[in-house]
Parts: sequence; structure tokens; C-alpha cells
Amino acid sequence: MKILVTGGAGFIGSHLIDRLTVLGHTVIIIDNLTTGKRENINPNSQFYEMDICDTKLAQIFKEHKPEYLFHLAAQIDVRKSVQDPLYDARSNIMGTINLLSLCRNFKVKKFIFSSSGGVIYGDTPQPATEDNPPKPISPYGVAKLAGEGYVKCFGDWEGLKYSILRYANVFGPRQDPKGEAGVVSIFIEQLLRGKKSYLYGDGKLERDYVFVDDVVQANITCLEKGKNSTYNIGTGISTSVNNLYSAIAQIIKKKNEIEFAPKRPGELERNVLNIEKSKKDLGWKPQVSLDEGLRRTYEWFISDEK
Ligand SMILES: NC(=O)c1ccc[n+]([C@@H]2O[C@H](COP(=O)([O-])OP(=O)(O)OC[C@H]3O[C@@H](n4cnc5c(N)ncnc54)[C@H](O)[C@@H]3O)[C@@H](O)[C@H]2O)c1
Repeated sequence: MKILVTGGAGFIGSHLIDRLTVLGHTVIIIDNLTTGKRENINPNSQFYEMDICDTKLAQIFKEHKPEYLFHLAAQIDVRKSVQDPLYDARSNIMGTINLLSLCRNFKVKKFIFSSSGGVIYGDTPQPATEDNPPKPISPYGVAKLAGEGYVKCFGDWEGLKYSILRYANVFGPRQDPKGEAGVVSIFIEQLLRGKKSYLYGDGKLERDYVFVDDVVQANITCLEKGKNSTYNIGTGISTSVNNLYSAIAQIIKKKNEIEFAPKRPGELERNVLNIEKSKKDLGWKPQVSLDEGLRRTYEWFISDEK
């Protein structure tokens, strides 16, 4: 199949493309390389360095006639979205609308949208189901929710088939330790370099960590099985920052200085996703345990690819 992937030079997008090309699909990538890296680009794909807001995107749709589109390109930095919400909205809202319009005009069969359970549900004392009321507290969260809203509008009004995937905290090889999202990569890098680690919220903040290969599999499953609906993609398991840090330190067998620090403004106490609907509708469930995922991520950090 001909598949267009936006954000294909990024962390999750590049893993998705590696899998799609192994499965024999023809892949076209759109990425403006703001956070994406040239070395992540799969050589068996066709890459266009372009912004998703660019009107010239129509030319690519015209030439390649993609049948499916995975939309992962996004400004993903919460702090940046607070500092410059207009910049965030341009990529995360306007860019999404541009792509949806093109999918409608060029009769793309399905639009699979990467969204975020972390920023849409806010604090979740119980694992959040897809019906939990959205409570975004950052411009990034508001923009992701708006993106979902536009996806549904194009689905309802224009007949565009879609699936929306709300990810938990994704981790794995290629995640940038310099970004603010990847606490696993940040801890691994700090431990390897003997640098001090800060455990915010006194290490008690709880998150749902899902390995990138499981997220890739969820996306691929949506090609056939995804309904016009929203699915949580996580593990349903809550892990404290303390436990995460200890698990990583145990794998690396290194020690560094740690400091417990207060929760930063806007940081959630607990964010965990209920994945029962994804299990039932998609027949998907995570396959990689936290320990196994951490081990694979660490092995990548000390490998030649890094
Ligand atoms: N990493 C996570 O834990 C996580 C959690 C929830 C949701 N998500 C979502 O998954 C998707 C992928 O995230 P990621 O972690 O791989 O991030 P990433 O930053 O590694 O990838 C995003 C890619 O999009 C590209 N990009 C950004 N703005 C663009 C624009 N205007 N035009 C073209 N390309 C643009 C970047 O260059 C980058 O390659 C995002 O939509 C993000 O919101 C990620």
C-alpha cells in the first residue's frame, strides 16, 4: 500500500516507517526536521523536507496518491507551547487541518492520528477510559484536543475514515534525551555520563510507560481494524518515577547523584490509561514489559546507531 507518514524523521514515526517498509509498503515521509533527525529516515522511503502547513503539500499528494496517512508530526514540547502557543497551534492545529483537507481532496482511505492521553486527560486517579472528560491544561493539550476535533469533523462531514490513538508515555530507542518528554532517555543518559538526576514530585509521580514497538503495532493494527473512534494506547500499569529510576539504574549497573525536587508547575500527579477498549476493538495489547523495553533502550544507547 502507499502510505504517507508525517513526522517520519522523529522518534515514533521512524520506528513506524521501519516496520511499514519491512511489511512491503511504499512509504512517503513529510517532516520539517525541527526535532526529527536525518539519520532516522529509512533509506527505503521517499523523504520530503517540508512543513505540514505548506500549501505545496498538494503536489506530493498529487504525485504519490497515498492511500493511508499516519499523522505524527507535531510540536511536542509542553513548555514551548506555553511560551509560544501560536507556534504550537500552527503545527498542531493548522497543520492537521491542512492534512485533513488534502486527505479529503485526494480521497485518502484512512487518517490515523497520534494524540496524547497524558495531556488530554490530565490527572487520572483511576486509569482513564476514552470517555473520561478531557481536561487539557497546556496549549499543547488544547491543540491536540482541537486536532482530534477536526479529525472527527472530517470523519462525520466528509466521510474520511479515521482512528485517533491517545498514547501514554512512549519510550524506546531514538528518543531524544535533550527533549523534555523522554524521562527514560534522560535518566539513561544521566546515569551513563555520571550526571545528577532530579526526581520531581519527590519521585512519587506516576505514569504509564509504553514501549515504542507496541505503539507501532497499534498504529499498524488500525489500518484494518481501527474504527472511526478513539483508542488509548498504553499499558494500564502505573509506575512511579522512583521505581522507573531504580529499574534503569539496575539495568545499567551504575550509580549517580540523585536529588528529590518538588513537582514542577503543571506537572500531573498520576496519569495512567485504561486500554480495555483497544484490546477489545483492535485485538491489540502491549507485548513488551517495562524491564524488557528499558533493556532494549539502554542497549541502543550503547550501540553504534546512537
Ligand atoms: N513521545 C511520547 O511519549 C508521545 C506521547 C503522546 C503523544 N505523542 C505524539 O506522537 C507523535 C510523535 O511524537 P514523537 O515523540 O515521535 O516526537 P518527535 O519530536 O520525535 O517527532 C515529531 C516529528 O514531527 C516533525 N515536525 C514537527 N513539526 C512539524 C511540522 N510543522 N511540519 C513537519 N514536520 C514537523 C519533527 O521534525 C519530528 O520529526 C506526536 O504527534 C506526539 O504528539 C508522543
